[in-house]
Amino acid sequence: MVIPSSSDSLPNIVLTGFMGVGKTTVGMRVASSMRRPFVDTDDLIVKRQGKPIAQIFAEEGEPAFRALERSLAQELAQHRGLVIATGGGMLVDPDNRAKLGRSGIIVCLDASAMVIGQRLQGSDGRPLAHNWQQLYAARQQAYAAIEQHVSTDGRSVEEIAEEVIALWQNASR
Ligand code: S3P
Repeated sequence: MVIPSSSDSLPNIVLTGFMGVGKTTVGMRVASSMRRPFVDTDDLIVKRQGKPIAQIFAEEGEPAFRALERSLAQELAQHRGLVIATGGGMLVDPDNRAKLGRSGIIVCLDASAMVIGQRLQGSDGRPLAHNWQQLYAARQQAYAAIEQHVSTDGRSVEEIAEEVIALWQNASR
């Protein structure tokens, strides 16, 4: 599957944050408001590998999935004008963070542990969801290294998307 090309060459908007914060939903809203192509990294990996994330983890292991993420980060960093929703672990890697950070603005969507717990309840298809509390704590430092944050607790998709767009506008001035 090819990465859609954008008609503008302005910086990308890259959304990250923990599983369940709403990166895909918010990203799709931001993309449609800004009339930009939307790329979801998990979705792209699934389409290219021809199997769900859980199956990639089960058959090839997490390191193989992280390698796919690294090569996708490298590839996406060559593009501009996109709205990108990353898998929750992709930008924990400082190298991926640096590469995509050079292509645009990275915005980390934040949610409290309580909200994450609710959103991940009964979540199948996320191979690391069973271990989320430990991961949530372990990743705080990596997410904190990202400059821009938007809180999602108790807010509508619309409100969150508007704040992301405002951050992008300020950063692109
Ligand atoms: C992961 C998050 C998932 C997916 C994979 C690993 C992680 O994406 O990339 O299961 O390490 O946090 P979402 O954040 O979209 O659930």
